Amino acid sequence: MGNFQSVIYEKSENIAYVTLNRPQVLNSYNIQMRDELYQVLSAIRDDDEVMVVILKGAGDKAFCAGADLTDFLTAPSPVVTRQTRGERDVWGLFLSLPQPIIAALHGYVLGSGMEMALCCDLRIAAEDAQFGLPEVGLGIIPAAGATQTLPRAIGRAWALEMLLTTRRIEAKEACDIGLVNQVVPRAELYMAAEEMARKIMRHSQKAIRLAKQAVVRGLDLPLADSLELERKLAALSFADRRRQQPSGSNTEKTS
Ligand code: COA
Repeated sequence: MGNFQSVIYEKSENIAYVTLNRPQVLNSYNIQMRDELYQVLSAIRDDDEVMVVILKGAGDKAFCAGADLTDFLTAPSPVVTRQTRGERDVWGLFLSLPQPIIAALHGYVLGSGMEMALCCDLRIAAEDAQFGLPEVGLGIIPAAGATQTLPRAIGRAWALEMLLTTRRIEAKEACDIGLVNQVVPRAELYMAAEEMARKIMRHSQKAIRLAKQAVVRGLDLPLADSLELERKLAALSFADRRRQQPSGSNTEKTS
């Protein structure tokens, strides 16, 4: 894979580690990071060895302090920005990745940083994590999905409070409102993320991917359609399970 500057990509024992790597500017998200993330996530999507992805930020102070204010807010023109976005839909790629993504969050998790965390499936926060959406304070609104992903994650009232007041919340409150799955001491953050990854990886890769797909795609559908989706995906998982079983064995239970 390419020689990246704003992202570090590593793979070990079926876990892909993606590190946002611009610590000198609190890992703020710029065009280069977007392009590199796009390449990394595309490679992960096509790599069957990768069972789980862990996303984290380099440095002591931040997972990501949002869009690079010297970059995105001075983009050449909205038209060019949109064209480029169409060519490189990194957020769509995040959301459609077949493998589960665990975000390991510390320090500032602001703006696009929070939106990136919301594109992940599971979120673990260090005790020092602070979450916020400062966009309306800058006269803009989030554009990497937060107006849609946040209410789906924590409900309308909490989402609107965060969006409209721009109030920053700390890790414990984020856990109380369901924004993160768990809070751990800073020193244990990556251990906790790996522990969660290993719990997932004990199970069939096929079942993991189908379960993720059922939840992620189902959330966007009316209940009757999402139950139909579940039936179809469950049938695939049953077929796969039968293929795995030695012929003649009959251990499958019905539910
Ligand atoms: N874009 C570009 N550079 C950023 C940045 C961003 N979003 N966030 C921080 N930086 C840079 C700072 O300019 C500073 O660079 P410098 O050392 O060359 O001056 C460096 O990162 C460290 O940030 P600093 O502000 O000194 O740290 P702090 O602890 O005092 O404050 C924040 C941290 C996150 C509260 C503050 O940096 C901030 O408000 N950043 C902007 C957050 C934002 O609005 N993001 C959303 C954009 S939509």
